[in-house]
Amino acid sequence: MHGEHHPLRAWPPTRYLDYEGVVPGTSMGPAIVMTDAGRAYLKPLAPDVNPHSLAIEYVCTRLAAWFGLPVLEHCILRLGASDTFSRPSGGMSQPGPAFCTRAVDAARWDGTPKTLARVVNKEDIARLVIFDTWIRNEDRYPPIDAAGAVQSQRGPNLGNVLLVRELPRAKRLRFVAMDFGHALVGGRELPNRALGIDADKCEWVYGLFPEFRRYVTAHLVDAAVERLNQLRESDVSDAASIPTEWNVPAAARTAMCDHLYLRARYLVDTIRARLQPLCFPQGTLPGC
Ligand SMILES: Nc1ncnc2c1ncn2[C@@H]1O[C@H](COP(=O)(O)OP(=O)(O)OP(=O)(O)O)[C@@H](O)[C@H]1O
Ligand SMILES: [Mg+2]
Repeated sequence: MHGEHHPLRAWPPTRYLDYEGVVPGTSMGPAIVMTDAGRAYLKPLAPDVNPHSLAIEYVCTRLAAWFGLPVLEHCILRLGASDTFSRPSGGMSQPGPAFCTRAVDAARWDGTPKTLARVVNKEDIARLVIFDTWIRNEDRYPPIDAAGAVQSQRGPNLGNVLLVRELPRAKRLRFVAMDFGHALVGGRELPNRALGIDADKCEWVYGLFPEFRRYVTAHLVDAAVERLNQLRESDVSDAASIPTEWNVPAAARTAMCDHLYLRARYLVDTIRARLQPLCFPQGTLPGC
């Protein structure tokens, strides 16, 4: 047995060692595995996995880190010919690059304000809402229009508000931004052409749980917008270094990068005005 407390090497892993199980009831069904750098969660190439979702997950995780959000430690782990395991939906995982995150001791948010109050990095909530709006991620909280009306059939997904326990038995929790596989195209293939003005200039706000609103202050929104305003096209392109095995054509990669850059510019101009009536209708109070 590979002792989880004594990994053979420091993160990131270079080798898959054992399959331990699967996270039940999720769309991509990440595998829990042991690697030479300890336990990890893997989203591998598989018949039931859209490789473009792996690419979007990877690019968005890197952009989230660029944006200043806490993310899971992540890497691409290349699975060898014999590193395969069964998928919950039948079939086998395939060799090749898998999206890999280091296992953390965490639980999903229970949806209560009380648990949210224990989160030590509440200041990152505003940034996450702006990030989910940037990448149009319906897979945490569905988008809402200016009046606050929900615009999607998808319900809230508390499993995507992952709260990491700060210390053993500690009451302190830290949320990390994770699971972006449904962003941009809702789990479909990336198109080989521009995503279009409706996507670039979508006015809805994504990821804004009602319980999040009180933590989305004018001051925090301004700080996030200031960071977004620093985005260069090369930052997006750097984040989008996608393994060829994930089969994203060059035209689709270019269209995705162009969209992400254009949408960031659009949000720099508009997101404060969108969030104000929903989150801080009184305007900017001193110290808010
Ligand atoms: N690195 C990790 N450490 C601990 N738990 C993790 C880690 N990565 C994923 N998980 C757990 O596995 C669950 C599923 O992971 P994730 O949300 O990335 O997969 P998904 O299949 O894309 O989910 P969804 O059904 O929300 O689209 C998470 O909600 C979390 O509980
Ligand atoms: Mg999830």
